[in-house]
Amino acid sequence: MFAKDFLKGKVALVTGASRGIGRGIALALAESGADVAVHYARKSSMANEVVKEIETTGRRAVAVKANLAEHEKTESMLDEVEKVFGGCDIFIANAASGGFRPMMETNDKHWDWAMDVNARSILHCVQRLAPHMQRQRWGRVVTVSSLGAVRTVPNYGAVGLSKSVIESLTRYLAVELAPKGIIVNAVSPGLVETDALSFMDMDVKSALDFVRGRNPTRRLVTPRDVGQVAAFLCSDAAEMIVGQTIYVDGGFSLLTDYFPQLERMENAP
Ligand SMILES: NC(=O)c1ccc[n+]([C@@H]2O[C@H](COP(=O)([O-])OP(=O)(O)OC[C@H]3O[C@@H](n4cnc5c(N)ncnc54)[C@H](OP(=O)(O)O)[C@@H]3O)[C@@H](O)[C@H]2O)c1
Repeated sequence: MFAKDFLKGKVALVTGASRGIGRGIALALAESGADVAVHYARKSSMANEVVKEIETTGRRAVAVKANLAEHEKTESMLDEVEKVFGGCDIFIANAASGGFRPMMETNDKHWDWAMDVNARSILHCVQRLAPHMQRQRWGRVVTVSSLGAVRTVPNYGAVGLSKSVIESLTRYLAVELAPKGIIVNAVSPGLVETDALSFMDMDVKSALDFVRGRNPTRRLVTPRDVGQVAAFLCSDAAEMIVGQTIYVDGGFSLLTDYFPQLERMENAP
């Protein structure tokens, strides 16, 4: 069904590609034939490592820097991508930031930061990148959400809200852009072992063990799992998947605590 290099000749920009899930997506797109702009915010050495890894596959890659909270820095980053590659056919909105605290302790600054970096920057980038995609009548946008968009995760309020916005934005963009040949979808990964987890107020090892043990697939999701699904969504084979949020979580989000509760109720005196 797929040619090995089904994205050959395409250029992808992956935000937050210096590490974690973004790195996994950047590598999967390169394996599928795309040249890649590896975006980062601060960790230039890690981004340069990803560039080197991509170059060993025979693809072109460049590291591009921007704090996505800043409109002008984002513009300069997009200018650079255009200068190096002449345009961008695939945009993967993966980067995210935001502190972990209860909703009741979330102030305007926390709210604005999470919304600006995680959600508003996506609209900004798509508005800049879409005309090139439209001229070719081919473009792909994949946003990265999380379960916190539709369920509550402790201390994840500000980021969770921004993820809800991302999923809604994905649907609106999808309907507006599909007639122009630009296909927009979201992926929602389950828990993935990345640096991001160390900022959450939890025992990371126990959380990973819990999810691994409880997941119907009995393993954790990897950056590569997410990357392969993102690459598939960029393929022509996936053209009729439009505006959807695809869960890449091994089935974890399907589980419920409801039945053990029922059991406990039945056993109650
Ligand atoms: N890990 C999980 O369990 C999980 C689950 C579901 C969804 N997700 C989502 O998957 C995506 C990637 O998560 P991850 O766990 O791979 O994160 P991560 O390892 O913490 O990496 C975050 C990436 O975002 C970049 N970044 C941070 N602040 C930025 C800013 N202000 N402007 C621009 N870029 C910025 C970082 O750049 P530097 O390296 O330069 O700092 C880095 O490349 C996020 O959207 C996250 O919400 C993660």
